Amino acid sequence: MLAKELIVAFTNIVGKENILIQKEDLIEYGHDETETIQHTPEIVLKPGNTNQISSIMALCNQHQIIVTPRGAGTGLSGGAIPHLGGIVLSLEKLNKIIRIDEQNLQVITEPGVITEVLQNALKAKGLFYPPDPSSKGSCFIGGNIAENSGGPKAVKYGVVKDYVLNLEVVLPNGTIVETGANVLKNATGYNLTQLMIGSEGTLGIVTKITLKLIPLPKYDVLMLASFKHLQKASEAVSAIFRAGFTPSGLELVEIDALKIVSKMMDSHAIPVHDDIAAHLLIELDGNHKEILLQEMEAIALLLEKFEIEDIFFAEDEAQKNELWKLRRRVAEAVKLDGYTIEEDTVVPRAFLPDLIVGVKKLAQQYGFKAVCYGHAGDGNLHIRIKDPNTTTSYNSPHMQTALSNLFLLVKQLGGTISGEHGIGLVQKKYMPLVMQEANLQIMRSIKKTFDPNNILNPGKIFDMH
Ligand code: LAC
Ligand code: ZN
Repeated sequence: MLAKELIVAFTNIVGKENILIQKEDLIEYGHDETETIQHTPEIVLKPGNTNQISSIMALCNQHQIIVTPRGAGTGLSGGAIPHLGGIVLSLEKLNKIIRIDEQNLQVITEPGVITEVLQNALKAKGLFYPPDPSSKGSCFIGGNIAENSGGPKAVKYGVVKDYVLNLEVVLPNGTIVETGANVLKNATGYNLTQLMIGSEGTLGIVTKITLKLIPLPKYDVLMLASFKHLQKASEAVSAIFRAGFTPSGLELVEIDALKIVSKMMDSHAIPVHDDIAAHLLIELDGNHKEILLQEMEAIALLLEKFEIEDIFFAEDEAQKNELWKLRRRVAEAVKLDGYTIEEDTVVPRAFLPDLIVGVKKLAQQYGFKAVCYGHAGDGNLHIRIKDPNTTTSYNSPHMQTALSNLFLLVKQLGGTISGEHGIGLVQKKYMPLVMQEANLQIMRSIKKTFDPNNILNPGKIFDMH
């Protein structure tokens, strides 16, 4: 329990309107989108600036109080869940875009800005920040940095790490540092900026972000191919790249997932009948429409070798938006349908078919339903699992055995257990399957250097012993 004097001290720092202590207000901050896990914090603080965060951390470090930083709570590995109690520090009030630097193609922003809000502000100036997680309409840019998020555009444009130039960070003892400089090249010592990205709020709290931007491509085209066999759909993916194309999106959705999301959204935009097993959604973008249309035709021709059922070209923005909306809401829809466990496996692209065969075998062997979707172009497959007896993998030995076998297969294929959702709470058990003990020891030493008292988001990614 937090002492009364400390609560008074926190209230003095953030103001009484920015501290939550009533149970009913705290519940929302006890979960993210991961499975069905809930751990309600003791209090929630909503600081409004870097100095307040620094004061909070100094106090927490002195009194060894656990702090869990939180963005929008859309995470899928439990990184923002305060499973050891203590304080949730919400970044929701740091929600300003500080400056769009059109001269240098950069933006400086606070972490609590919704990713899509940032992208739209940039778009209005002809600028592009590509990483676009499916939750872009609600997730925060700060959370994207904590997880090194990806999304559909990553296949052509890369992930968050490819756009971050510099960060302002509050360290666990309250010290405020900048990790780099607002420059495109930087060979000045260890790369602390990249170390922070994907560190899941365990090393420091990001309070200011400088991102690199690119000019917004003028055109995009979108096509949807339906396949008779899931296997063939997954084989087509690497063939597209080998033939010399670089789509700006190449997503796979298995038919069961599509049925569920179409029903939830009451949409008939994508055909769902018994001869179809999966769809590929393929986007190309660039500055020359004619070239894009030619490439689209060439890809369509190529796909004919893979037993396609049909191909559909989106004709206007409304059709494109409808298709993307369906794809983006798959995770939410299948979770509501009882597919509560989500995996984020990633393998070298051409091994995607092997991964899919393996997943289906394991589902049979362990008696669960598995539905696959995700960023096929990256070899990044989201696997959603439904098992009426097991709504969370967290404490289920049966599911843990099944997942260990899945991850051993992923490792055999040269892949790893998370492409973009992070390790957080639910995947840390499996880290030794894909990491040497030496790697884990290095990570523990880094954590100790930043956070000797282990107060900042402890017990995430790995345990300290
Ligand atoms: C997606 C999220 C779950 O791709 O990563 O929909
Ligand atoms: Zn994804």
